[in-house]
Amino acid sequence: MLLLLLLLLLLGAATSRCLHDETQKSVSLLRPPFSQLPSNFRSSSLTLPGSRDPQPLRIQTCYIRDPVSAGAWDPEEDGISVESQALAAVREAAQRLQGVLAVPPVQGPLLLSRDPAQYCHAVWGDPDTPNYHRCSLLNQGYKGENCLGAKIPDAHLRGYALWPERGPPQLVQPDGPGVQNTDFLLYVQVAHTSKCHREPSVIAYAACCQLDSEDRPLAGTIVYCAQHLTSPSLSHSDIVMATLHELLHILGFSGQLFKKWRNCPSGPSVRENCTTRQQVTRRDKWGQLLLTTPTVSDSLAKHLGVLGISLGVPLEEEGPLSSHWEARLLQGSIMTATFDGAQYTRLDQITLAAFKDSGWYQVNHSAAEELLWGQGSGLEFGLVTTCGTGSSDFFCTGSGLGCHYLHLDKGSCSSDPVLEGCRMYKPLANRSECWKKENGFPPGAENPHGEIYHPQSRCFLANLTSERLPGDKARFPSQIPYLKEAELAGHCYLHQCTERGAYKVQVEGSPWASCPPGEAIQIPGYHGLLVCPRGRLCQTKEGTDAATFPPLSLSTQDLLFRLSLGLAGPPGQSLGEEEREELTEAILQALVNRGGTGRCYFHSPSITSSLVFTVHIWKSPGCQGPSVSMLHRALTLTLQKKPLEVYYGGANFTTEHSKLLVISGHNPSMTHLGLSTGLCLMLLILVGTLGTVAYQKRAPLQVGPSAPSHSPEVQSTRGLVGGLREV
Ligand SMILES: *[C@@H]1O[C@H](CO)[C@@H](O)[C@H](O)[C@H]1NC(C)=O
Ligand SMILES: *[C@@H]1O[C@H](CO)[C@@H](O)[C@H](O)[C@H]1NC(C)=O
Ligand SMILES: *[C@@H]1O[C@H](CO)[C@@H](O)[C@H](O)[C@H]1NC(C)=O
Ligand SMILES: *[C@@H]1O[C@H](CO)[C@@H](O)[C@H](O)[C@H]1NC(C)=O
Repeated sequence: MLLLLLLLLLLGAATSRCLHDETQKSVSLLRPPFSQLPSNFRSSSLTLPGSRDPQPLRIQTCYIRDPVSAGAWDPEEDGISVESQALAAVREAAQRLQGVLAVPPVQGPLLLSRDPAQYCHAVWGDPDTPNYHRCSLLNQGYKGENCLGAKIPDAHLRGYALWPERGPPQLVQPDGPGVQNTDFLLYVQVAHTSKCHREPSVIAYAACCQLDSEDRPLAGTIVYCAQHLTSPSLSHSDIVMATLHELLHILGFSGQLFKKWRNCPSGPSVRENCTTRQQVTRRDKWGQLLLTTPTVSDSLAKHLGVLGISLGVPLEEEGPLSSHWEARLLQGSIMTATFDGAQYTRLDQITLAAFKDSGWYQVNHSAAEELLWGQGSGLEFGLVTTCGTGSSDFFCTGSGLGCHYLHLDKGSCSSDPVLEGCRMYKPLANRSECWKKENGFPPGAENPHGEIYHPQSRCFLANLTSERLPGDKARFPSQIPYLKEAELAGHCYLHQCTERGAYKVQVEGSPWASCPPGEAIQIPGYHGLLVCPRGRLCQTKEGTDAATFPPLSLSTQDLLFRLSLGLAGPPGQSLGEEEREELTEAILQALVNRGGTGRCYFHSPSITSSLVFTVHIWKSPGCQGPSVSMLHRALTLTLQKKPLEVYYGGANFTTEHSKLLVISGHNPSMTHLGLSTGLCLMLLILVGTLGTVAYQKRAPLQVGPSAPSHSPEVQSTRGLVGGLREV
């Protein structure tokens, strides 16, 4: 009777695929069974009738150490335990969902059900006796309950009893205390399971195992394949996004659960008025499987700009229990089957609509992220029959180089299995990110197209070539090979939003030029044209690029460190704002050199007027190198050994000993997410983490005496304003 729902998320070299439907064939879910305990043995938790206002979904996590695979790998790899990596990702994903989904809160402690088919060999069969359907013979081999291989602690489970033919039952195991303040209990495992072994690209897979009496998912397990948690090809945000995808599956977005969705016209809190939905999916006349519930359909119609037309949303072709949106239509949605990386993935409105239609959740629609793909593209968008006709510039034909539709990356026109022959510009394998400074040209290198790589740079179709290339002065333009009719291709240039939908661009060495969407402009000092994309850049109201900028902010809180360095400068020195900015840049550069890593780890540096330099350290998506904690530890050690010294404006600035403070990004909500039962290892881990944080806060790290050491160190290679270098 107890069967599992299994979801897999695969990560290949470039994209990952979720294998949900290949693995869930044998799946069914455990609901609260007919009680096996006499009523006087039952714990007092009752489902209270009537209306309960939805509250933010409380997901409680419980780390389960796998007794089989523990020891098979080194959990201390890379300086940070993979367990805390996984827990950090789960915590972040769960926290994010708290702002998105609300449910009528579970009253009292959450208790999971036992499967009578597991612990009981036979039940009584006489409907006229009190022991009807109660256990008459125990299964001697009963090993307790598990959820996708994770052993459920007895403390989380209802008890059970053995009923004799006559007389009072014999209690075998009483109800556990349950888990307080919890609407969904998530077991977390990090392991090298055979599944991880067989499919080396699987990052994580998850299963839902228990439902409440309204069929809302109550508990599940996510298993992370250990090797991916330390893999440099996955950033922390990638793992968070993959976790969110799995969580959404087990909270209801699953072929297995669609048929249990409820129709609750009075909202999820008025349960009396709910019925099981008659139809969630259907096949259209071409055999395409569609999800057809009303909010989902309206949401797609709004997205495509065809209001008033009732559309089902196509699901990926994965058999009768498909659990992903069709990628041709909803590329970039978190619930498509492929995962290209966190910066290309959005928790979109149509996915949120599905959760509203499940009947179990109240949804905060303002938490949705904008899905650019296909926006306003009409009814014909994303069909196999139209994607190759050039009718939409979201798709491409041929094999040229262009821009990924979010314009963060250069791309090549290519396809993948879920695109079913349609082609789109996909990010190149190497250095295609315009927003990464480190992809840019080293100083002095030839940059004939005037590209700029910068967090505010975007990909533009252009065939610009500089008129002032060194050594070309003597030649005729026609003799210069790259001045011959160059084809348009993706290049990186700086952009800046001026108002919603409007922006200007800057090419190396040229002034800012206004870039009217849909037009091609010329740039002073360059041959050729630059095409200004329509409807892609600067689409959010705020005038900033929240929609198209990689969603980096806030999503990596858990692995955030703040590094504060007190600076000693010449006495009586007071710096103006601009000078402080330059000094900030100089210290940052020295710190980057010292750390020996890319700048992509360092964020929002600043210096206060009392000369305290502060920088946040976390790993942006695509940032190559060690883990944040590793870098943090290395920096701490080296700064202890030798302070930073920076020469600026004719004076020496030194990080002062005793003023060095490193604070780990302690997330206040971490404490209240801690489990209330003592049985989970997670509690121990949390205490461990908090202990470290407290330790670091209380005891500022000591720095050795700032002896005038002149051992050679990495010199700042950049010619910064003010003639800066680390001495
Ligand atoms: C709804 O989402 C918005 C945007 O993420 C957030 O600011 C707000 O706090 C959320 N509301 C609730 C009730 O969680
Ligand atoms: C439930 O549905 C009935 C019939 O449609 C309606 O009269 C009643 O007001 C509803 N209850 C609530 C609490 O909305
Ligand atoms: C990416 O760069 C590496 C190292 O520069 C190179 O070996 C590899 O061939 C490149 N891959 C592609 C697809 O260009
Ligand atoms: C740039 O591309 C445009 C449009 O394809 C073309 O007309 C123009 O001749 C090209 N210019 C150069 C310098 O290649």
